[in-house]
Amino acid sequence: MSSAPAPSARRPGAAVPAAVWVDGALVPDGHPAVHALDHGLVVGDGVFETCKVVDGRPFALTLHLRRLERSAAGLGLAAPEEDVVRAAVREVLAALGPAAASARLRITATSGPGPLGSERVPGAGTLVVAAAPLSPWPAGARAVTVPWTRNERSAVAGLKTTSYAENVVALARARERGASEALLANTRGQLCEGTGSNVVVAVGDELLTPPLASGCLAGTSRLLLLRWAAQEGLPVREADLPYEELGRAPEVLLTSSTRDVQPLAAVDDRPLTTSALGRAAVELFARRAAQDDDPQP
Ligand SMILES: Cc1ncc(COP(=O)(O)O)c(C=O)c1O
Repeated sequence: MSSAPAPSARRPGAAVPAAVWVDGALVPDGHPAVHALDHGLVVGDGVFETCKVVDGRPFALTLHLRRLERSAAGLGLAAPEEDVVRAAVREVLAALGPAAASARLRITATSGPGPLGSERVPGAGTLVVAAAPLSPWPAGARAVTVPWTRNERSAVAGLKTTSYAENVVALARARERGASEALLANTRGQLCEGTGSNVVVAVGDELLTPPLASGCLAGTSRLLLLRWAAQEGLPVREADLPYEELGRAPEVLLTSSTRDVQPLAAVDDRPLTTSALGRAAVELFARRAAQDDDPQP
């Protein structure tokens, strides 16, 4: 087992350093370990996954690795070898030590060092696996609407690429307004997703989530909620929704790897309720995730 490398002071505010692995070896947190002209850094030419880690075990790692492959294929990148990624994950979580009881794991694969423009040169990619402690989301999470849209016809729609600057801007707007997520429409004015989450809205006696054709990411948590709800007869399904639904729905929930199923307390300062159905969705996810931490695709 590898021991954690010495931490550095590069992550201000971090009580426990991240464990970081780059292209075959653990490196000290904050240590410069990626080529300055990595195309992932220069133009965002890369893909990534974020998993939650519970009691030292990554949740739904297989689903995340399959999506990493799909994202890489969508960019025309070779996905990293699965065995290598899984071994790196084990090494990183061992290095994180007791902090792996509740952590966030990030797997990033880029096209590797490249030119200063958008053209990609063939070559070895860069693989980074990192984990850091994860604090639970506080209760009473709020979201806001934003004026920017997701482009469901984009070349990278539905791919989890490292080009996340749009999400950074939208999330910063949410933070300015005291919220923890921003919810986006697509170019057709339909509800799409959050900057790092899928969205579920109560309409009548059902919970509805936008279909993948909306341009949203195929969230692993969204998939599991839909699957487990169908198996247990809970009315949760995909449906197109106008963005304006956020202004009238009594209940809105988010799904993501770090949130699981998270009821929102408000959208744009409009208070929301959590119904028995919403609570059942939260309970269903928690129960089924505890029974199987690596659901298969
Ligand atoms: C844009 C976006 N949508 C949805 C999600 C939710 O996906 P998952 O449930 O796999 O975490 C994420 C995850 O970070 C995301 O970045």
